[in-house]
Amino acid sequence: MPGLLFVCTMRLILVGFGTVGRGVAESLLASEPELSVAGAEPRVVAVVDPVVGSVWREGGLDLGTLLRLADTGESLATYPKAETVSGLKEALEVAGGDVLVELTPTDLHTGEPGLGHVRAALKAGLHVVTTNKGPISLAYHELRNTAHKAGLQLRFEGTVLSGTPVLNLCEAGLAGAGIREIRGVVNGTCNFILTEMEGGTSYAKALSKAQHLGYAEADPSGDVEGRDAAAKVLILANSVLDANLKLEDVNRTGISELTAEDIQTACKAGKTWRLIGRISQGENGWEAKVGPEEVNRADPEGSLTGPENLLILDTEALGEVTITGPGAGRRATGHAVIADLLEVHRNAP
Ligand code: HSE
Repeated sequence: MPGLLFVCTMRLILVGFGTVGRGVAESLLASEPELSVAGAEPRVVAVVDPVVGSVWREGGLDLGTLLRLADTGESLATYPKAETVSGLKEALEVAGGDVLVELTPTDLHTGEPGLGHVRAALKAGLHVVTTNKGPISLAYHELRNTAHKAGLQLRFEGTVLSGTPVLNLCEAGLAGAGIREIRGVVNGTCNFILTEMEGGTSYAKALSKAQHLGYAEADPSGDVEGRDAAAKVLILANSVLDANLKLEDVNRTGISELTAEDIQTACKAGKTWRLIGRISQGENGWEAKVGPEEVNRADPEGSLTGPENLLILDTEALGEVTITGPGAGRRATGHAVIADLLEVHRNAP
């Protein structure tokens, strides 16, 4: 006979209600039954976004109403019976959240505004779930230590391979397996562009399609110049392999120099270009690099299409473990947040 299930309400503050934020709201709605089976009842009590508006409501905000307002271009300030807030600082003061869900656009140079949001939330005693690569790639050790000292969780599954589980897989199932090397395709936009160009689409048109489909970053140069992939490789190195690398330590080349001719020549030889990220042991510890490599079409990396991502984790205990799945997209990234929220719920004291 099933035991009594205690339902635990998690008060969420969402910062960022653009493509990813709305994907998270959709995922929260779609996953309600599974969350409830697990005894978790996430309740969004505040949404903070400088463009669509910032509001809070003691009893929680209805996700369908938030989505309808944002999708029709109406300010969230028109939400019935909700109060407006000036920004995250005020939301933290008035809404009393348990978890900050940080979903603002990534800035790999400064980490802002996400870095400030994560620091403020940890200081205020909230767990943090984020899909933002800026804060985690630039300040992972600092943020992890702050969270650890405060007994809080910092989870960021969506920063690598979006909703395809890698970080949680490494933390749980692959713990103790002795990872020797990690390699694979970690940028969906580049993989999409390369696949489209193999079909004869021009680079410019393929990039514009990737932007339209929501795969590319707000500044897509980060995707095509390999900075997005470098940030993901760095996050894997530091959080999974306990390396102490910085973004500038990742040896990086993008795909923007690849010509249509390079791509067609590879195709004729049964090969294909892929942007590959790699972390392996060098003479002085872990080394990380990102760059285009010509691979056989029959290789796991070569058969990936569109925004698919793939990682091969070479381990002492199991040999190679491969995981593949979507690496970008609104709903896929939304799922990463659901998985992290469930982990926060399971690990909460
Ligand atoms: N721009 C990223 C990509 C989004 O294309 O992979 C997911 O991190």
